[in-house]
Amino acid sequence: MEIIERIEELRSQIKTWKKEGKTIGFVPTMGYLHEGHKSLIDRAVKENDKVVVSDFVNPMQFGPKEDLATYPRDLDMDAKLCEEAGVDIIFYPAAETMYKDSFSSFVDMNTLTKGLCGKTRPIHFRGVCTVLAKLFNIVTPDRAYFGQKDAQQLAVVKHMVEDLNFDIEIIGCPIIREEDGLAKSSRNTYLSKEQRESAVVLSKALKMGKEMIEAGEVNPQKVISTIEEEIKKVQGTKIDYVEIVTWPYLETATTTKGSILCALAVYFDKVRLIDNFIIEE
Ligand code: PAJ
Repeated sequence: MEIIERIEELRSQIKTWKKEGKTIGFVPTMGYLHEGHKSLIDRAVKENDKVVVSDFVNPMQFGPKEDLATYPRDLDMDAKLCEEAGVDIIFYPAAETMYKDSFSSFVDMNTLTKGLCGKTRPIHFRGVCTVLAKLFNIVTPDRAYFGQKDAQQLAVVKHMVEDLNFDIEIIGCPIIREEDGLAKSSRNTYLSKEQRESAVVLSKALKMGKEMIEAGEVNPQKVISTIEEEIKKVQGTKIDYVEIVTWPYLETATTTKGSILCALAVYFDKVRLIDNFIIEE
């Protein structure tokens, strides 16, 4: 496995692979890899001849008051996980490589990005779309893998690829969880021991909501209220949002019938965690 920092070097390797008729799988990440990322990598390794993982904490998708400076990083640990999983290249560019001083082009989206996480993170998806458009142009993969953990991101990326005619298949992968149900996340490392124990409420409350729908509840508001009440029982939680929207269009759902996404974001002090479930028709 190689760790490549320069765009030209990566491009030249990709060109060689393409000449040999190899298929390329791509897993974009911000590093500090865990089992969630690994599940995407494993699938990419299984389905493609060559696999590229990008490891880049993208400054453009962080708001001015967000955790860019403290976002956890550990290239050695990431390299070990990737090597063992059978990755061919880690693309590890410097911020200046991706964004020159003269940088001034962006990819943005009018739909899908305003609600859910977009409400409290107004510039987030512009940053995600822009960096992914760049990475897709650099790596030119056949398939790219994304977790349902970031369900809104998955919907946005699929839409961007369709709108802008990227010749890439976007593959969504299920949420990988800790044993107690907490969705795995690089940000879980920010949690204190008490907060980590409290955080189990997110998956627990979502499970209650899902069971209500499966038992026939069609009113989204009733499901949302149950989830919110369960979370509010736990001290130190502050709900950013609990919403039920249509999947994959992300419009407010008037019924739980049909394909829906039930998503939430909750603060544990300054740590903001997200989780969700999707019911597909
Ligand atoms: P990051 O948070 O590092 O996540 C990289 C990928 O791993 C995303 O597709 C995310 O949904 C997936 N992932 C994270 N935790 C997961 C879990 N518990 N189960 C399944 N998949 C999980 O998302 C980003 O980086 C960035 O926004 C990026 C797409 C790289 C653009 O900068």
